[in-house]
Amino acid sequence: MTETTYKIPFLDLKRQYQSIKTEVFARFEEVCENTAFSGGKYVEEFEKHFANYCQTQFALGVDNGTSALHLAMLALGIEQGDEVIVPANTFIATAWGVSYCNATPVFVDCTADTWEIDASKIEEKITPKTKAIAGVHLYGQPFDIDAVKTICEKHNLFLIEDAAQAHGAYYKGKRVGGFGEMACFSFYPGKNLGAYGEAGGITTNNEKYYKYIQSLRNHGSVVRYYHDEIGYNMRMGGLEAVSLSVKLKYLDAWNNRRKEIAKRYQTEIKNSAIRMQHQPEFADSVYHLFVVTTEKRDDLMKYLHEKGIFPGLHYPVPCHLQKAYAHLGYQKGDCPNAEYLAEHCLTLPMFAELTDEEVSYIIEVLNTY
Ligand SMILES: Cc1ncc(COP(=O)(O)O)c(C=O)c1O
Repeated sequence: MTETTYKIPFLDLKRQYQSIKTEVFARFEEVCENTAFSGGKYVEEFEKHFANYCQTQFALGVDNGTSALHLAMLALGIEQGDEVIVPANTFIATAWGVSYCNATPVFVDCTADTWEIDASKIEEKITPKTKAIAGVHLYGQPFDIDAVKTICEKHNLFLIEDAAQAHGAYYKGKRVGGFGEMACFSFYPGKNLGAYGEAGGITTNNEKYYKYIQSLRNHGSVVRYYHDEIGYNMRMGGLEAVSLSVKLKYLDAWNNRRKEIAKRYQTEIKNSAIRMQHQPEFADSVYHLFVVTTEKRDDLMKYLHEKGIFPGLHYPVPCHLQKAYAHLGYQKGDCPNAEYLAEHCLTLPMFAELTDEEVSYIIEVLNTY
């Protein structure tokens, strides 16, 4: 194949779909035959499997990862006047849940090398109003949970894991999802475990949160048409649930393939203009996104496009500088590492179905940049 014949997207969901199509459709038929479209037994089945997979006692299926974060904040009792620490370098939804509770996200910079929340910068942001820390296992790589947990214990704060990008990742040999009060997952189609539709989940080892969210996501109702409090409609659908149950069986194999590709990027890309995320010993990443930085990002983007490689960009604006949070008064320079990343990062193609030949081509192109 010559280089002009390549057209490598940052993500191609169609390839995965081809490999599981028959199985997924059989289960879709089952849901339709049983008309179990919202909540119900197929959601419960997935919840059981997912809790088991995450090594937690409980899992809850909801309508998307943003709702998962919102429900988690509600379950913690986060309310107006409270503050929650959130990394500046994350997808904005980590902060949404805090804002939906009329509380204030307080943004903390990432480290210069792991690009994840810098635990050494958290304490200076803690005030009497701080109630919780939402750590993010960004790009699939667990953050330094013990360092953040120590701060939580010292200041009596809740810990929430935003594991939206890290299904199956390990921290010190244990799956993410059970380290904080709750962990929130996104099953957005492009995630390592992505539904056919929108979906999200929460894992926890605390029965109190589990029971509360079971009701809260279902109009605040345990017994039909009896509403204990003002609730939400944040249920997972049956079709989404079975697509996830099918895919969960393959998740480890797909994650292992991502690890294989990442290893090749890490060892075979030998270009000093390209920097990669530092991986501490404690983190076993599932490489949801393979983000790199380079001084002339737009230049590299253009070069890759010319070579038929289509990278992603995660994320062009850090949370503290988003227009939505302008009222909080952050300035450029407040989180310099997150700002550097926003201006210098791009995301290489990463999905389990990339062929060895495609990976070789991407590496070759980057080595000749
Ligand atoms: C880190 C992070 N948090 C939260 C979310 C929100 O999930 P969803 O898109 O399912 O609402 C996402 C995914 O988009 C994410 O990447």
